[in-house]
Amino acid sequence: MKIERNIGFELVRTTEAAALRAGRWMGRGDKNGADQAAVDAMRYALDSVDMDGVVVIGEGEKDEAPMLYVGEQLGNGTPPRVDIAVDPVEGTTLLAEGMPGAIAVVAIAERGSLFATPGIMYMEKIAVGEQAAEVIDVTASVESNIRNVARALKKDVEDITVVVLDRPRHKDLIQQIRDTGARIKMILHGDVAAGVMTGVDHAPADILMGIGGAPEAVVTACALKCIGGAIQCRLWPRNDLERQLVHEQRIDIGRVYTTADLCRGEDVHFAATGITTGEFLRGVQYFGWGATTHSIVMRSRSGTSRFIEASHRWDKLMRISNLPFDRRDG
Ligand code: FBP
Repeated sequence: MKIERNIGFELVRTTEAAALRAGRWMGRGDKNGADQAAVDAMRYALDSVDMDGVVVIGEGEKDEAPMLYVGEQLGNGTPPRVDIAVDPVEGTTLLAEGMPGAIAVVAIAERGSLFATPGIMYMEKIAVGEQAAEVIDVTASVESNIRNVARALKKDVEDITVVVLDRPRHKDLIQQIRDTGARIKMILHGDVAAGVMTGVDHAPADILMGIGGAPEAVVTACALKCIGGAIQCRLWPRNDLERQLVHEQRIDIGRVYTTADLCRGEDVHFAATGITTGEFLRGVQYFGWGATTHSIVMRSRSGTSRFIEASHRWDKLMRISNLPFDRRDG
């Protein structure tokens, strides 16, 4: 039998490129500069991948984002035909402020299989790893979800760790989690890494709960599809403008989106590289001669996930790349 091509290895080069460029902006207080550096590098790298791709989750609509905008065609046009979800810097504030946990992320799946978020920026989410995948229900109470997950993981409720974004909107949620006796891991940003972490071996957290970005939910679904976890979400209109959109487009905000709704593909690939060191991935380390990166690549068909440590040498890299990896600006 022929060994199938694993496009994930090409994808990880794109997240490495984004991380190598964006890592230069750590702690400089410039979110836009950091994001732009990652976008430029990821777009440049994605365009050379053997694929016929279209961005479904990207940097925004074409008029607001010149690169990696929704609808942009990427790759050299050869098969496979794929949808692409990108988040060149997941946790731009973390990176700009020099805090842990910023990552560069990309996922692809068959054309037409990724959920295109309908202009509502947030979703209410619950995500878990494989062992608890069957027991979560975003419409059920916080307590019953935590109890059911604890039972599925054969843990006491007090042993369960719930990851929550530290936001005023989560005041009630946090109280309800505390009332169950479960532990809370509060994060400032980055609920993709937090959601994915519930699905990895020796997971540092058991459940992600709360309201976060809708595009991030799709990216998380791609990763959990690969490693066997689950996410459930509901759209969460944040203001009158979005409530009006819901009304005009007759969007059913009661609808539950499962992992399979957000990522319908069966041939899904996910890659992420650490930019600043976090619990999930180590960040980029720069040396005079080059840099090291730490990444994860996953594939749904095989269920394989691989951590990849790479060392990059400027003297060789700069002979084959147009991106100025060896310095900050350019
Ligand atoms: P950015 O990298 O786009 O800044 O997103 C970071 C993030 O923390 C996501 O992980 C999360 O889904 C979202 O922002 C939460 O949004 P908000 O900060 O508005 O609560």
